[in-house]
Amino acid sequence: MTNSELYKVIFKRKSVRKYDLTPLAQEKLEMLQAFLKTVKRLEEGIRTEFLIQTADEVSSVFAVKAPHYITFYSESKAGYLINAGFIMQQVDLFLSANNIGSCWLGVAKPNKNVPQAKDGLQYVIMLAFGNASGAVHRESTQQFRRKSLAEITSIEGAEQLLEPVRLAPSAGNSQTWFFTGDTREIIVSRKKAGIIKAQLYGKMNHIDSGIALCHLWLSAEQQGKKADIDLTGQKVPQGYEFMAKVRLED
Ligand SMILES: Cc1cc2nc3c(=O)[nH]c(=O)nc-3n(C[C@H](O)[C@H](O)[C@H](O)COP(=O)(O)O)c2cc1C
Repeated sequence: MTNSELYKVIFKRKSVRKYDLTPLAQEKLEMLQAFLKTVKRLEEGIRTEFLIQTADEVSSVFAVKAPHYITFYSESKAGYLINAGFIMQQVDLFLSANNIGSCWLGVAKPNKNVPQAKDGLQYVIMLAFGNASGAVHRESTQQFRRKSLAEITSIEGAEQLLEPVRLAPSAGNSQTWFFTGDTREIIVSRKKAGIIKAQLYGKMNHIDSGIALCHLWLSAEQQGKKADIDLTGQKVPQGYEFMAKVRLED
């Protein structure tokens, strides 16, 4: 699967919450396993692992009943949640590009059949996946419920670059990201949440930022640019928290 194919599916992907519970063919699971070995990481120094489980193994307590779940584990080092979002969004796009439905599951805590740790790494997040029982894709970008570009950026002339980022999924569709700077250097920050929302979504919104960075990286590449992503601190607008600096090079 090429990055260009991952990019194209951004414009039609959606969360699939209703599945045909028949397990996927073994070759599709093997194809996924092979893809997992190729995913791009934001932080090479953070050890991570995936675990693929069936509905029987998880005996799901989730509202989303799917034939398979893919669980992500990580060392909890600086930037690990952003890294998790960046990696798992590639998986979400890969599944969608192969006409396999998927849905991020982060709000509910998984039951005890999903290990909370694996080889010294901690559980971070999971995706449900399998054949969708309805449509796997949206028909047009009109069907995305998202903020406008003007609500998420102050950068002018970056419509083409940021449109795929605008369409990124986020926990509770909260879309707390904000993009400042210019078309050569973009600062990604997130709106600071109030106390209640911070408790509910604090961790998730860091994962969301990683998802947005995944779409930004694919979008930049599509425009023939290399995105150099740096997670170390920078000044951001008041009320916002720094997430990343993205330098775009021709
Ligand atoms: C980090 C994260 C956690 C999520 N957790 C859940 C969840 O627990 N249950 C669920 O039904 N959807 C969950 N979602 C899916 C979002 O609700 C969904 O992406 C958002 O509403 C946008 O809709 P779309 O994905 O169909 O474009 C989650 C999404 C993200 C990015």
